[in-house]
Amino acid sequence: MARVACIGSGNVGRAWAVVFARAGHEVALYDADPAQVAVALPLIARTMEQLGVSGDIRAASSVAEAVAGAIHVQESVREDTEIKRAVMSEIAAHAPMDCVIASSTSALPGSTFMTHIPQPERALVAHPVNPPSLIPLVELCGTGVTSDDAMARSRAFMDSLGMKPVTLTREIDGFLLNRLQYTLVAEALHLVGEGYCTAEDIDRVMTDGLALRWLSIGPFATAHLNATAGFKGFVGQLGPMMRRMGEDARTDYDWDQPLIDSIHDQMAARFPVDEIPDWQAWRDGRILAARRVQDS
Ligand SMILES: NC(=O)c1ccc[n+]([C@@H]2O[C@H](COP(=O)([O-])OP(=O)(O)OC[C@H]3O[C@@H](n4cnc5c(N)ncnc54)[C@H](O)[C@@H]3O)[C@@H](O)[C@H]2O)c1
Repeated sequence: MARVACIGSGNVGRAWAVVFARAGHEVALYDADPAQVAVALPLIARTMEQLGVSGDIRAASSVAEAVAGAIHVQESVREDTEIKRAVMSEIAAHAPMDCVIASSTSALPGSTFMTHIPQPERALVAHPVNPPSLIPLVELCGTGVTSDDAMARSRAFMDSLGMKPVTLTREIDGFLLNRLQYTLVAEALHLVGEGYCTAEDIDRVMTDGLALRWLSIGPFATAHLNATAGFKGFVGQLGPMMRRMGEDARTDYDWDQPLIDSIHDQMAARFPVDEIPDWQAWRDGRILAARRVQDS
């Protein structure tokens, strides 16, 4: 088993630590704020207990100590180009030359903060879905100078961890998941904002409609299985309607404050803000149950 470093021990960094440790790797965890690591370690222990897994995770007192001898470094610091640029320089100065350096960035193009380092061919984005300890998708995206070898090694490593990687062929803002997710959110905002339905109705459309299919098959396979002649047959029949919906969707709908406040109030009626940690635990339990269905 190998050494893996997690730089940043917030929400995402500590979930990554669980992913690496449960696969048997020795994990070094570093954060610029030592108090953050002190908070993270018991939370990690709780997650590992919930998942029924164990592992070797230790705090490191510097980036240099964390990345020494590592085969993979996962950076999960604040979403800020300048902070990430500086952290990348420090990681690259101390990590072995054949170590893959991956960033968890949600939407920053890797080319804006990873290409200035020595041997930038080893650096790429590995964007997880929070928390990666429960959700296996990871989006791999090079910077334009990332080597094919680093992309392939990273993909094989993610596979070996039980993650489900997708590899983008080039950079695009938001990668895949967030582009799909926020396009849908924008149209949902439009529908609620124009009074067609409530925010709760949108949740019901998802959880009692689309999500039941989407647990096992995506939108293209959904269309393919909804017509006896497959995707071509479906588009042949309903293509004009599908195109019209796309053209009609209001992805530029205004995020105005009264609408945000109203959606917040509807959500808070079901999930009171002071109970959010309990509801997060409930959500995580549901995700684990859904994974069991997927695996069955
Ligand atoms: N939260 C999500 O839903 C989510 C999902 C996918 C990806 N991401 C991405 O993961 C990254 C981390 O997000 P998060 O939600 O864990 O944030 P967070 O605020 O919970 O944690 C960030 C951590 O980085 C540490 N940090 C800041 N500067 C540092 C430095 N110079 N060196 C070392 N540590 C430093 C902070 O002390 C903090 O503990 C971001 O790039 C974010 O966009 C977040």
